[in-house]
Amino acid sequence: MALRLTTPRLVLRQLQDADHEALFSYRADPMVSRYQSWAPDSLEDARDFIRRSSGLDTNLSDIWIQLGITLKDSGDLIGDAGLHFFTGMARQTEIGLTVAPNYQKRGYASEALDALLDHLFIKMEKHRVFASTDPRNKPALALLEKHGLRREAHFRQSLWFKGEWADDLVYALLGSEWLGRRQMIDSSNITQKDH
Ligand SMILES: CC(C)(COP(=O)(O)OP(=O)(O)OC[C@H]1O[C@@H](n2cnc3c(N)ncnc32)[C@H](O)[C@@H]1OP(=O)(O)O)[C@@H](O)C(=O)NCCC(=O)NCCS
Repeated sequence: MALRLTTPRLVLRQLQDADHEALFSYRADPMVSRYQSWAPDSLEDARDFIRRSSGLDTNLSDIWIQLGITLKDSGDLIGDAGLHFFTGMARQTEIGLTVAPNYQKRGYASEALDALLDHLFIKMEKHRVFASTDPRNKPALALLEKHGLRREAHFRQSLWFKGEWADDLVYALLGSEWLGRRQMIDSSNITQKDH
């Protein structure tokens, strides 16, 4: 069944062909694509991307599945979340998040990541979730660290990226660690309500 996640302000759902203009407008923005390996050159490129990465069963191996991040109230597409499942390491998933510039710094990426981690660790019983990013991508580092992902590797000049050798940071979190954080947050909410 197609994956659909809801949060207080968002719905994460499969991308649809009708999303291609909105997706193009933020994914083609050089500020958004600066540290990303893919950016659409045209509206047709955006449609192709949607065709390739949506309408798929979750947990398929060795492909990126892309979910649209939409506002619950208006249905507007404000970003997307990538999930990369693997053959041979079925209980590990790589993730990536993109939010349109007009909607950044409002906690939407954070809200989407919370829902993704809950789904991956609680529903899908994944053991480890990881993300890889350029060390210069400060908002991405802040987002990952805020959710408890640990910096586990710093590969020096390991990627030939946009005409130069770029470093790559790998962040990861285990299911047991996420559940521990969840319990701490839940119990501190209960304590706060008691006072
Ligand atoms: C990486 C990316 C998704 C992070 O998005 P973001 O908007 O910075 O992240 P958030 O939605 O969590 O916003 C956090 C900020 O919103 C503020 N905020 C405002 N309202 C908020 C709310 N209701 N809840 C939480 N934070 C809120 C916080 O203060 C926080 O700012 P701070 O980090 O300076 O303290 C975004 O920069 C992006 O799309 N970049 C381009 C694509 C990319 O490189 N992706 C990386 C792939 S891993």
